[in-house]
Amino acid sequence: MSHTLEQFASQCHDLLKNNPGPAGRQKVADVLKGVLLDEAFIAKHLSPTTSERDIIYEDSELGFCIIAHHYLSPKSSDPHDHAHSWAIYGQARGSTEMRDYQKIEEATADKPGKVKVTRTYSLTPGVAHVYNEGDLHSPERKASTSLIRIEGTDMSKVKRMKYVVV
Ligand SMILES: [Fe+2]
Repeated sequence: MSHTLEQFASQCHDLLKNNPGPAGRQKVADVLKGVLLDEAFIAKHLSPTTSERDIIYEDSELGFCIIAHHYLSPKSSDPHDHAHSWAIYGQARGSTEMRDYQKIEEATADKPGKVKVTRTYSLTPGVAHVYNEGDLHSPERKASTSLIRIEGTDMSKVKRMKYVVV
């Protein structure tokens, strides 16, 4: 089945509006899995001109964003959560090595928090994973990758705490 961005965004809107909280996000992730395997959708929205972060849809009512990420080279992030918000990571091309963490010590504005690894796993094409409020994780991408991510709000505008691995 082929998808359009407009249809997908509308589905996300309805699922998130009708199922607030983690349940709605999981439903969105389940729909996203199908979108990730739609070659026409991926070719259109993850094209050679896609940057490392292109917001392709922002919902005017709920504030969530659908974001295309095209990383030409290795790209990793330190352990982080999504503050008061959440994120869904959907792998379209390549592989992401993901780590989940348990918080050992709270972060403050002046001092990073401490975390320890609880789980390591791979996101491969067609896999979508939900990270709810407070879930700590770090993605590592060793080669070129493409993702469709959904953020509960545009996280580029949100200040986040730092964490170090112990
Ligand atoms: Fe994240």
